[in-house]
Parts: sequence; structure tokens; C-alpha cells
Amino acid sequence: MMFASRKILVIAAAAMLSALTFTPAYALDNGLARTPPMGWNSWNSFHCDVSAKLVEETADAMVTSGMKAAGYVYVNIDDCWLLKKRGRSGGLMPDPKKFPHGIAAVAAYVHRKGLKLGIYESAGATTCAGYPGSIGHEKQDAAQFARWGVDYLKYDNCGDYRGETYPQRYTAMRDALAHSGRPIVYSLCEWGNEAPWSWAQPVGNLWRTTQDITPRWETDQAANHYPQGILDILDQQAALSAASHPGAWNDPDMLEVGNGYLTDDESRAHFSLWALLNAPLIAGNDVRDMSQEVRDILTNRDVIAVDQDWGGRQGYRVRDDGKTQVWAKPMSDQSVAVILLNRGRGPVNIGTTAQAIGLRSAGSYTVRDLWKHADSVSHGRMEATVATHAVAMFRVWAGSKGGQATPGQ
Ligand code: GLA
Repeated sequence: MMFASRKILVIAAAAMLSALTFTPAYALDNGLARTPPMGWNSWNSFHCDVSAKLVEETADAMVTSGMKAAGYVYVNIDDCWLLKKRGRSGGLMPDPKKFPHGIAAVAAYVHRKGLKLGIYESAGATTCAGYPGSIGHEKQDAAQFARWGVDYLKYDNCGDYRGETYPQRYTAMRDALAHSGRPIVYSLCEWGNEAPWSWAQPVGNLWRTTQDITPRWETDQAANHYPQGILDILDQQAALSAASHPGAWNDPDMLEVGNGYLTDDESRAHFSLWALLNAPLIAGNDVRDMSQEVRDILTNRDVIAVDQDWGGRQGYRVRDDGKTQVWAKPMSDQSVAVILLNRGRGPVNIGTTAQAIGLRSAGSYTVRDLWKHADSVSHGRMEATVATHAVAMFRVWAGSKGGQATPGQ
């Protein structure tokens, strides 16, 4: 009797825990971003130099480069699209020099390409570049975005907060978007200041987990830890893997693939790690003018499939040996994606086992190299000589992979 009732208690507790973790209410209930959003954003390469021309040419390039076919959808305008003052009736005024036909015309252009348009505002009195913010104007601004045909809002954290808390400011815009009459992905950008992974699931579809990214492998110490390099941002993700769910994603910031000081190997590592973390894949380079190598990184479908798959858990760090690390992510078809990361200088041999990454025991394993796009057979050990600042990335199946297609791929 004792045993039976304890067993019932354990089952009830487990059911409660899984209800807490997996009910739809745990993520913003707007039906959007059921997989991590994919697209492009102007900020990392263009900063304030935004225009209708840039956005439309980028939309064209997303089609011709194969990015759209690989799954990229959103074309996102970041800061500086506005005039410095609101109009007479309090509405936001796009800068007519940058957007001569307004935002609705750009949205229509992007929609004709089969893509979607994103825009940027701030949950304070001004944006980070000093343009009018949305605090106190949430309903008016959300309704305006909807009328223009906007599909995605990145909501930043600059300007005076007028005494409101973080959840108050971000919830006000969530509610305004919900009443706008248009489905709009809601991207919170409060830089991880108030641990959004602990409260933002019912508020936004994604939330930034850190300060701004920079196109460097390591944080430039002279820049006083701000903005941060790829490894620094990665280290801050290790504790967050339980916080994300379909519709509610950790956002370690937009991609720097192909930008700044990153080598192609570093860009490949950055892209692989962001995919394993179920991060939004928002390209931040000039996609109108990218090398074949960079294009191949951004459109690597084997890696994108890892990002877009929900196997019940975001990728996590399996092993940390300082200069080398192993990261893994369960996939919905029972395979596991694994990254062998060399953070240090000089090539190094890195290995792991099927058991260490959570695969069931089997006589043999099928190992797909997600950068070489080649399959091989293993008896339980995965290893590679990994170049400096690079990764090897595999997807591993116990037995053969036949008949185990990933849903949605
Ligand atoms: C903040 C955000 C960036 C970018 C800029 C724009 O720093 O974190 O991603 O949007 O503002 O001013």
C-alpha cells in the first residue's frame, strides 16, 4: 500500500511538473514562432543606415541567394527608421528620406516576395538611437504597425521607463499587439537585464539573453566587456537551456556570420552553436554582397534542421574542458545533434560517446557530418581533429536513420 501510494504521488508530481513545463500557456499564446524565427536584421551591418532601398534589395537577395528557400522569412528594420518627433496626432513618422513611400509600401514589396517585414521600437521614451519610443503609445503604435502590414516587432529597452517595471512595459506592448488585429511576432530585447528567461515565456515569442553581440570570437577586453564576443555570449547560454519552448525562445542575439573579425571557421562555429541552442537565426550581414562561403554557411540545411527541430530540449553543454567543449541537443526523431568545439589556438582532437550525449545503446550508430554532408558508421565514439576556433558538428542515430524523418523538414 505504502509503495503504491508513493508511486501515485510520484506520478502525480511528474504530471504536474510536465504540465507546468509544457502547457501552451507557458509560451505566448499567439500561435507564432513555433520554431525559432529565421530572417535578417539591418543593425549588425548597417546600424542607422536603413532605407526602403536597403530593405527591398535585401528581400531580393534573400530570394536569389537561396536563403528564402532555406527557411529565412523575416526582413527586419532595426533602429533609426523614424523622424525624431511624432506627428500631430501622436503617430510615428517614418523618415521620408529613408522611406519615401512609407512603411506600408515596403511591407507590400516584401510580401510580394513571399517574405515578412519586421520593425523596431523601444519600451521607453526613446529608442537607443534617440528616436521616439513607444511607452505610453503602445496601442497607437501597435495599431499602426498592423495597418502598415508589419509581421514582427523587436522591442528594445532604451529611454525613460517612467517608473514602470520590466514586465509592465513589455506586457503593455504584448497586449497592444494582441489587440492590433494582425499576427505579429514579439521579440523582447531587454538584454537579459532582469532574467527574462524566468518571466518572459507568456510575454514574448523570444527574449534577448545578453548585451549586444559583436563580430569577434572573443570579447575585446579594451571595449570594457561591451559588446561581447561569440564565446562570451555562448557561456551565458549554458544555464538557460530549460527556459525555451516552442513559441518562447532564448535569443543570444542576431548572427554575425560573415561580419567583422570572424573567420569562416568562426562563422561556421557561431552558426552551428546558435542552431544547437534553438536560437532565432537572424542574419546580420549584407546578404546582397556575401561570399560563397558565407552563403553556404547561412543556407546549410543540415544545420538549420537542428535549429528548427524541437526534441523537447534546447541544446546544452555536455562537457567543459576549458579550451574544448562538447554540446548536444536531442532531436525529435531520437537522434542527437552534437558539437565538438575548439575554443583555443591550434588544432586539437576532441571526442565524445553516444552514451555521453544521451543516445540509447546500440550495436552501431549512423553519424552524419553536418558540414561535410557525409554519413559514416560508428560503434559509439564520435571524434574529430578540430581546427583552431572551429567546430565539428554531427547528428547521430542509434542504428540506422531510415524511416526517422524529422517532423516539419
Ligand atoms: C540596442 C539593441 C541592438 C540594436 C540597437 C539599436 O543596443 O540591443 O540590438 O537594436 O539597440 O539602437
